[in-house]
Amino acid sequence: MATLTKTTISVAELDEMIERGESFLLLDVRNQDEFERWKIEGRNPFETVHIPYFQFIEDEDKSVSRVPKGKQVVVVCAKGGSSEYVADVLRQRGYDAVNLEGGMIAWGNYYRVRRIEEVTDVALYQIIRVARGDLAYAVVSNGEGILIDPTRHTEQYTNLAEREGFKIVAIFDTHAHADHISGGPKLAKALGVPYFMHPYDAIHPIDMLPATIEYEYLKDGFTFQFGNATLKGIHVPGHTLGNMAFLVNDRYLFTGDSIFIVSVARPDLGGRGQEWAPIHYESLYKKLLVLPDETLVFPAHFATASREGRPDGTFYDTLGNIKRNNPREYQSPSKEAFVEFMLSTLPVFPPQYVDIKRVNAGLLVPDEEKAQELELGKNVCALADAY
Ligand SMILES: [Fe+2]
Repeated sequence: MATLTKTTISVAELDEMIERGESFLLLDVRNQDEFERWKIEGRNPFETVHIPYFQFIEDEDKSVSRVPKGKQVVVVCAKGGSSEYVADVLRQRGYDAVNLEGGMIAWGNYYRVRRIEEVTDVALYQIIRVARGDLAYAVVSNGEGILIDPTRHTEQYTNLAEREGFKIVAIFDTHAHADHISGGPKLAKALGVPYFMHPYDAIHPIDMLPATIEYEYLKDGFTFQFGNATLKGIHVPGHTLGNMAFLVNDRYLFTGDSIFIVSVARPDLGGRGQEWAPIHYESLYKKLLVLPDETLVFPAHFATASREGRPDGTFYDTLGNIKRNNPREYQSPSKEAFVEFMLSTLPVFPPQYVDIKRVNAGLLVPDEEKAQELELGKNVCALADAY
């Protein structure tokens, strides 16, 4: 518990409070449109109140009267400036109020790292970008580690390798991401290790321009040995044409954007949903859902932590459970029914996703501010029923 003298908390502390299920009030003072676009959420519920900052300035008494008493108040804004002012006002009026350091920008760039305890033949780490629902992985055998779908904050991965004492020997992207900027090409270059992706994803699907990044080819049946472990590549086009899944030691399935814990990856982010949905069906039903039910599925995203998060803060499940829990996606009677279901359940297509694919192909180089703007909000890589 924070004491009355504490005036700020970090995003890591907020994450821990949510994970522990603590009772607190989140006071969001951003504008209406910012609030609607992206909220702080977590596995456990907490109360959120939205009162824009300008209302505190215009009518402080009225605004303060709308803040319920009796709980610690965590105040958040975009960058941590106006929330600092509001937290100050509340403290002067007797509230136990703290400012979230760095605001939504810091929350968006915060990572939780967990080791998957039930996996023992390799060391498996899930690197969770909590606010966006992006999941990356490090898999380590005999001191040799591979990364799958690392995000652009590459220090997360180099710090982990240093902390846990392994050497990163290769980097894989399951596909050309549309929702976030990959850290793969940059990190591979810095470390002098190979970066792998499927060549079909090295052509921007809207621009039809080839990628300028350096990469090595993945293909169906590709294998890679690291330490005593083996990774096998399975080509599963549908979300993208070059979408790959990776099966490590015949047991751990990194599905990228195909099978999620809740729902399934959408087929339309390349602008060709009609054409790609039937391909998606073939990949899922002929290549992935035929694997043993005890296979552990590690996806590239979650959509809703309260539905998909495990008590230890990780996100994965067995293939058998996923099939049972998502009958419309994974027990579809026919290709036609599946295609119709998918195309009638598409969420909005965020316009910035076209640019993010350009960045991941090396066709556009953003500065930090632009990168942050492109990555605002949660991923929307699954069908609408996941959110
Ligand atoms: Fe995605």
